Amino acid sequence: MRASIINTPTRYGWATILLHWLIGLAFIGQFALGFAMVRISSQRTAFELIQLHKSLGFLLLGLIILRIAWRLGNAAPALPSSVGSLERLAAPLAHLALYAFQIALPLSGWALVSVSTLEIPSMPFNLFVMPNLPLAESDAAESFWAAAHWYLAYAGAALVALHVTAALRHHFRLRDNVLTRIVTPSSGGE
Ligand code: HEM
Ligand code: HEM
Repeated sequence: MRASIINTPTRYGWATILLHWLIGLAFIGQFALGFAMVRISSQRTAFELIQLHKSLGFLLLGLIILRIAWRLGNAAPALPSSVGSLERLAAPLAHLALYAFQIALPLSGWALVSVSTLEIPSMPFNLFVMPNLPLAESDAAESFWAAAHWYLAYAGAALVALHVTAALRHHFRLRDNVLTRIVTPSSGGE
C-alpha cells in the first residue's frame, strides 16, 4: 500500500513525520551549537559558529511556520485506547508547549541580534541580509533578550527531554505504537 502524505485518524502521514524529524534533529543540533559556541575560547571560531547558529535558527523558524500551517490543516491521530486519562490531557498540552518554544526561541534570538549595539548583520547562509526586528538598540535590551533566549533555550531543552522520555516509555515499557507511528507513515488504508 502507498504511504499517505496526510495524517489519518490513527497514524501520522509522511509529511508530518518528515517535518518532525527534520526539525526535531535540527532543534537539538541548534541547542548543542548554541551551548558550544558561547564556551569556545577562540573568538574567531566563536564568531563563525554564531553566524551559523543564526542561519540555522532562521531556517528553523521558516520550517516551523510551515510545520504549524501543515498541522493546523491536518489533525493529529487520536492516541491509542491504552493511553490513560491524565496523559490524554497532558500530551496535547506538552505538544502545544513544544510548538510555542519552537517559535519563541528563534524569535527571541532574532530580537537579541536586532537590539545589539554591535550591529552585526544577519546573513542566513551568506545568501541575503535578514532585516532586524523593529526594536530599539541598547545594552539593556540586549541583556534582556540574551536572558530571555537563555531561559527559553534551557526550558525548551528540559521539555524536549521530557518528551523523549515519554516516547521511550511508550515504546519500551508500555509497548504501544506511539513511537513507531511517528517513524513509519500511515498507508492509504489506515
Ligand atoms: C530553535 C532555535 C534556537 C535554539 C534552540 C537556540 C539555542 C541557543 C543556546 C542553547 C544558546 C547558548 C545559551 C548559553 O548557554 O549561554 C544560544 C545563544 C545564542 N543564540 Fe540561539 N538558539 C536558537 C535560535 C537563535 C536565532 C534565530 C538567533 C539569531 C538570529 C540566535 C542567536 C543567538 C545568539 C546571538 C546567542 C549568544 C548569546 C550570548 O552571547 O549570550 N539563536 N542559543
Ligand atoms: C529526538 C527525539 C524525539 C523523539 C523520540 C520524539 C518522539 C515523538 C513521538 C513518539 C511523537 C508522537 C506523539 C503522539 O503520537 O501523540 C512526537 C510528536 C511530537 N514531537 Fe517529538 N520526538 C523527538 C524530538 C522532538 C523535538 C526536538 C521536538 C521539538 C522541539 C519535538 C516536537 C514534537 C511535537 C510538537 C509533536 C506533536 C506532533 C503533533 O502535532 O501531533 N519532538 N514526538
